[in-house]
Amino acid sequence: MEEAIFKLNNVYFSYLGKYPALCGVSMDILKGQKITILGANGSGKSTLLQLLDGLIFPDKGSIFAFDRQLNEEVLNDEAFSRKFRSKVGFVFQNPDVQLFCPTVEEDISFGPLHLGVNLDVVKKRVNDLADSLGIMSLLRRSAHQLSVGEKRKVAIASTLAVDPEVLLLDEPTAGLDPQTARHIIDIIIEANARGKTIITATHDLHIVEEIADTIYIMSNEKKIAKSGATQVLLADLDLLKTHNLMHVHRHKHKDEAHIHSHQHLDHHT
Ligand SMILES: Nc1ncnc2c1ncn2[C@@H]1O[C@H](COP(=O)(O)OP(=O)(O)OP(=O)(O)O)[C@@H](O)[C@H]1O
Ligand SMILES: [Mg+2]
Repeated sequence: MEEAIFKLNNVYFSYLGKYPALCGVSMDILKGQKITILGANGSGKSTLLQLLDGLIFPDKGSIFAFDRQLNEEVLNDEAFSRKFRSKVGFVFQNPDVQLFCPTVEEDISFGPLHLGVNLDVVKKRVNDLADSLGIMSLLRRSAHQLSVGEKRKVAIASTLAVDPEVLLLDEPTAGLDPQTARHIIDIIIEANARGKTIITATHDLHIVEEIADTIYIMSNEKKIAKSGATQVLLADLDLLKTHNLMHVHRHKHKDEAHIHSHQHLDHHT
């Protein structure tokens, strides 16, 4: 049996003590797993990832990461925090939160330099990642002047530059053109093949089969409605419909407008 690197036990979290965002979530995440969190807008996906990254802490219940309970005190411990930050990387849903340096090059270098990685190693990582993601020409620019998709690529590069064991990716393909999205998926698959644990939140069912072996579906009550093997849950159309994971389309047959739903996996013909 693989070791559990994260253990969540009946975790509750609310913003400002009055906006519930997670209501009793328990899960074990094993080393090397590929997990996707699915669920409607506001069901708690981003909140769950922020808890796993130790950015916020449960109101009730507990989270253990690498056998230590995550709380404010533990993450204020410089030695633990440094170790934790080098092991766990987070690509935020909103790349603006993550990019704050004068140039893209500095944004990508920031994490590994901060964690004490040798300058030459950092330079090589920045170059390799920029080359692989096709953002070499952006290195001297400010991230604030970039398009949404370009910002997302820089945010992904800045997280990968740390080479963490666990990658938390919040909507990693949102706003990306199809080829770039494909490339990000390949990077995720390749990282997992090298033993990295991958935890994503997404609405894009097209990519789930490739980036997840296990799915957790969050409900509007901000609990886990169902978890299980990707193939099994993606085949449960009623479940997907209940949790807003189906498209609703309006189109015309002859002169009559029809509205019907279909899952994201269906192909448009
Ligand atoms: N900063 C905040 N202040 C107050 N409430 C918040 C804040 N961030 C999130 N919430 C609330 O917490 C709940 C969960 O939000 P969360 O962002 O985790 O959902 P999500 O599943 O990631 O949604 P989306 O698919 O839209 O990204 C929502 O009801 C939301 O309104
Ligand atoms: Mg979110």
